[in-house]
Amino acid sequence: MKDKQMTDLNAVFADQKRKTVETAEFTEDGRYKRRVRSFVLRTGRLSDFQKNMMVEHWPQLGLDYQNTPFDFQAIYGNDKPVILEIGFGMGKSLVEMAAANPDKNYLGIEVHTPGVGACIAYAVEKAVTNLRIICHDATEILRDAVADASLGGLQLFFPDPWHKAKHHKRRIVQPPFVAQVVQKLQPNGFIHMATDWENYAEQMLEVLSANPHLTNTAPQDFIPRPDFRPLTKFEARGHRLGHGVWDLYFIKR
Ligand SMILES: C[S@@+](CC[C@H](N)C(=O)[O-])C[C@H]1O[C@@H](n2cnc3c(N)ncnc32)[C@H](O)[C@@H]1O
Repeated sequence: MKDKQMTDLNAVFADQKRKTVETAEFTEDGRYKRRVRSFVLRTGRLSDFQKNMMVEHWPQLGLDYQNTPFDFQAIYGNDKPVILEIGFGMGKSLVEMAAANPDKNYLGIEVHTPGVGACIAYAVEKAVTNLRIICHDATEILRDAVADASLGGLQLFFPDPWHKAKHHKRRIVQPPFVAQVVQKLQPNGFIHMATDWENYAEQMLEVLSANPHLTNTAPQDFIPRPDFRPLTKFEARGHRLGHGVWDLYFIKR
């Protein structure tokens, strides 16, 4: 195929993904239902390289939204625990974790298409086979496409803090979200969160502690930063700004 035609095709694919990260819902009388989302789609540019990687490797690494549960055994070709990471950003730390833990399967969800392209490119470079990527609102994927008691763990690293009080309703860590995650976890499955925003760390602690099915593994609220969590882009930025970091690690009873 000619270069120009290939570039156009890639642009269409990436564009479509951007447009379908959320499923439109309507009221009974047919009006669009506006949901409070934990993200605002940024218009970051997808490089030609990222687009090409996305198109070329989507059949092996990408999964599309579906309204029935994924068959993880068929997807990964084994029954190792599936670790879900929501909001992987550019995906560097997710790919590094997948490469370092071949005894686990990883599923990454991100709505920011340049991040999806970058993550796929890095996964190809590192030749990881235990990773799949989704470009869609994670709360819809959890609700519709993940079977109950099917996840070994959930990772949520540096979710958007939504600093202003009037935006706190956009924070992804809320009691209904955590209840849904718990429903999707296998017994002894984990929830690992990290943030560099103290006020959000307190909210995470409060919400996780209030769920009757979760036990905190930390003797005192937070765990020390674990070596097995690679430095993420947002964490590095937080360091530069002099922020602290809070890690929370809970287990489903
Ligand atoms: C502050 S960034 C952190 C990225 C990465 N974890 C890091 O530490 O570098 C939060 C990311 O979560 C993504 N995000 C927010 N809500 C999401 C949702 N409901 N589904 C999927 N991704 C989401 C955003 O697009 C953004 O890239």
